[in-house]
Parts: sequence; C-alpha cells; structure tokens
Amino acid sequence: MTAHGRLKVVVARELLPAGAKQLAERFELLSGGLESTRDELLDLVPGASAIVADPTVSIDDELLEAAGSGLRLVANFAVGYDNVDRSACMRRGVVLTNTPDVLTNATAELAMGLTLAAARQIPAAERELRGGRWSGWDPADYRGIELSGATVGVIGMGRIGIRYARLMKTFGGEILYTSRGRKPKEEAELGARMVNLDDLLSGSDVVSLHLAAAPGNRHLIDSRAISLMGPDSILVNTARGSMVDSLALASALAEGRLGAAGLDVFEDEPDVPAALLDAPRAVLTPHIGSATYRSRDAMAELVARNVIAVLEGGDPLSPVNLSPEGK
Ligand code: GLV
Repeated sequence: MTAHGRLKVVVARELLPAGAKQLAERFELLSGGLESTRDELLDLVPGASAIVADPTVSIDDELLEAAGSGLRLVANFAVGYDNVDRSACMRRGVVLTNTPDVLTNATAELAMGLTLAAARQIPAAERELRGGRWSGWDPADYRGIELSGATVGVIGMGRIGIRYARLMKTFGGEILYTSRGRKPKEEAELGARMVNLDDLLSGSDVVSLHLAAAPGNRHLIDSRAISLMGPDSILVNTARGSMVDSLALASALAEGRLGAAGLDVFEDEPDVPAALLDAPRAVLTPHIGSATYRSRDAMAELVARNVIAVLEGGDPLSPVNLSPEGK
C-alpha cells in the first residue's frame, strides 16, 4: 500500500497502454522502463502487491524477498515463464500468471513465416537486391527448398504447435509430432502422427520447436539431433533459445549439413553468437513471435485482468501451476 492508500503495482519494464491504463486507474502503477537495470528493479519493488514481468526479467528469491510479504502476484507478460523461479513463488504463496491463447496465432504465424523465409532465403535475396548486387535473373541463383508436400515435424503439440501444424498442413504434406500425450483430434483432422523425437528428426523436412523451456530440454537440438536431420531440412525455433545448441547449429549450416534455419529466440538474448550471424541460410528475428498489434494488446489486457482479479480478491484468469510436476 502506498501513502495514497492504493496498492502498488510494479511493471518491471513496460506494459502497453491496453493493460497499463486499466492498472493505473486502480493502483499506484510504477514502471521501471525498458532500460531498467536489476538494481533499479530491486529498488522499485519493495511494498509491491504485484509485479508485472516479461521474459527478460528474472523473478527469483532475491527479487521476491525485496518485494516483501505483501506481494501477491507475479503477472508474466508472456506465455513462457522460464524467467520465473516457480518454487520461490510457491514457497511465498505468490500467484504466477502468464498470457496463453492470445498469442497462439501470432506465434504460429511467425513460425510459418520463418519456415517460408528460411526455405526460400528471402532475407538474403532481399539483402542482395538492396545492396545493389543483383545482376539479373539467374536460373541457378537462390534456389530454395519447396514446402509443398514437405513432412513437417512439430516438437511440442500444444496450442502453438497445433496452430502451426494446421497452417503448415496447407502445403499438403504429412505432420509428425512429439507430445506428452496423443492428440486424437489433430490425428483425425490433420492425419498427424505421434512419433519419438529421433523419428521426427530423421523423418521431417521441417522441424519446428513449440515446447515450454525446461531444464530437461536444454540443447534438445544438439549436434546429434542435427545429424539426424537431412541436409535439406529446415529447423525453426520460436519457443526458447535454450533448446538449441547455437554453435552446433551454426556449424551444421556452415558445413552444409542442414538446409536452413529460422530462429526467433536465442540462448542469451539479446546477444546472438557471431557464428549464427555469419551462418548461411539462417533467418534471424529478434524474439517477435507474439508481436502483432492484436496479440500484444490482448497480452497486456490479460496481464491487467489477472492483476485486477487477484488484487481485488478473485481468482486469476490464467494461473500457472506452481507444483513441481505442473506444466
Ligand atoms: C514470449 O516469448 C512468450 O513466451 O510469450
């Protein structure tokens, strides 16, 4: 509670007006700003009832301790929450919420866009043109990988994976997937087949990651996994950078052992390893999976609705299961 008798809500960095406006009407709303440092955040949170975080903000014991015992909620402005120490939240009775569903289409659409861009090397071709290096139509230049009829492997058949599978099915190929459980609806509608990871890697022309990051899937795509993929296949990652060994991927691209890659997420954002920047046939975007007007506004609104619900004594709209076996 602040001196003005309003509960204090701290936005670690920035929340779009679609959410910030609703929060400012009800609470004392303080924002760190996009450039805020960890020390500034530690200074901002004491006395907060809620913290709004995003994937770049580490929510750990130290920060929760600094906020104090009045902290009731961490609302993550993202569907992923690998930036949050869930057990620290659970120990302190702090609710954690995320923003599922509202970014499903946007993220799957970007994954599809990266698939197309990587298959046809659209950014490199455009760079050549803009750089004044286009010397005319060349029958051998920029030949790419055709997606019609391609087998698409979806690692993690959750909401975003399913949407991506549906979009990619329009190319008419087979859909393979890995998942914790079978997806009978998608099997019936898309003819999708659940397989093990190695079979997916060796049997797919396109492999796209749609898992939540977890300690068990760090470098899931390492040099062994890449060696199972064909030399014309495409790897797409719009999930989390930790799942791909970037250096192994960069060497596979450089040595022609992999067809192409489309990456929106990186191991140590915003740093991108030079080997990846230099790798051929790699399309790299700066973590923009959910960045549509519709999705980001809806995410901001959902963040605000979660904060309002919890601070006004109700149930969160999209709580994260904090138990160790939770999703
Ligand atoms: C973005 O990365 C998200 O998890 O929503």
